Amino acid sequence: MLSQSDLYCAFDTAPDTVVAFLTRLMAAESRSSIPHLADIGAGPGRLIPPLAALGWSVTAYEPDPDYLPAAETTVRNCPNVIVRQGGFEDLAEVDAFDLVCGINSSYAYLLSPSRRAPLYVLIACALRRNGFLILDLPNFPWIPDHYRAPVPQDGQWEGRRIVRHRQHQIDRERGTFTTIDRDVISDSSGEPTACTKVHVYAIVDHSTHLAELAAAGFTDVRLFPSFEARAPVPVPASRLISVARQGTAA
Ligand SMILES: C[S@@+](CC[C@H](N)C(=O)[O-])C[C@H]1O[C@@H](n2cnc3c(N)ncnc32)[C@H](O)[C@@H]1O
Repeated sequence: MLSQSDLYCAFDTAPDTVVAFLTRLMAAESRSSIPHLADIGAGPGRLIPPLAALGWSVTAYEPDPDYLPAAETTVRNCPNVIVRQGGFEDLAEVDAFDLVCGINSSYAYLLSPSRRAPLYVLIACALRRNGFLILDLPNFPWIPDHYRAPVPQDGQWEGRRIVRHRQHQIDRERGTFTTIDRDVISDSSGEPTACTKVHVYAIVDHSTHLAELAAAGFTDVRLFPSFEARAPVPVPASRLISVARQGTAA
């Protein structure tokens, strides 16, 4: 039976564009020390080996009991990497990081403003002065107006074929966007098996997102439409990638 982390890896994408984006961000800064990055909601850890290979220090947090051991296995030969169990809520470092990242939607699991507000403060404390918070979120308010129903996706893992059937549920009253992934796994030896994973995300528009960052003292916020983009945009499209600088108020 494949684990949830195997299924994640069967459908994830190469980390190259994210790593290049983070590298460009740090190259534009005149810091002499080796960057220390917090990868919060690291999943099975796809970003960590290429960042460690650049000589960066990485502290990863992952709350999921299946993804966590997978991340520990992913990084076992990487120098200067720590993997901790937990999410944004568990950030306990002070003045420790040049970058705190939530890549591929990890911050969207925090469903209410009252849950997010204290976490921005924790993040600001964990960042070094002028450090960056990078949040990569789906731009959920954009999606209904441009909606295309998901089509089945094909993946492979360890010789098995996996077909992912995805459904979406939008609850405007609760402000949630739910993704239901049903994976059907087949190999040559028998009947297909299926497993389902449900992700409930907060629908947050970019002006609310900017206001929440400002309330926690973040400054110089830039919005990017993708990790390939070289320049910020005033209004994001399908993805909302924000880069915010730790300010003085938090
Ligand atoms: C789509 S995965 C992204 C994994 C990884 N960042 C990547 O880019 O491959 C989203 C991750 O967010 C994690 N997550 C869920 N709740 C979280 C929380 N409260 N704080 C941080 N991460 C959380 C999930 O367990 C999952 O690993």
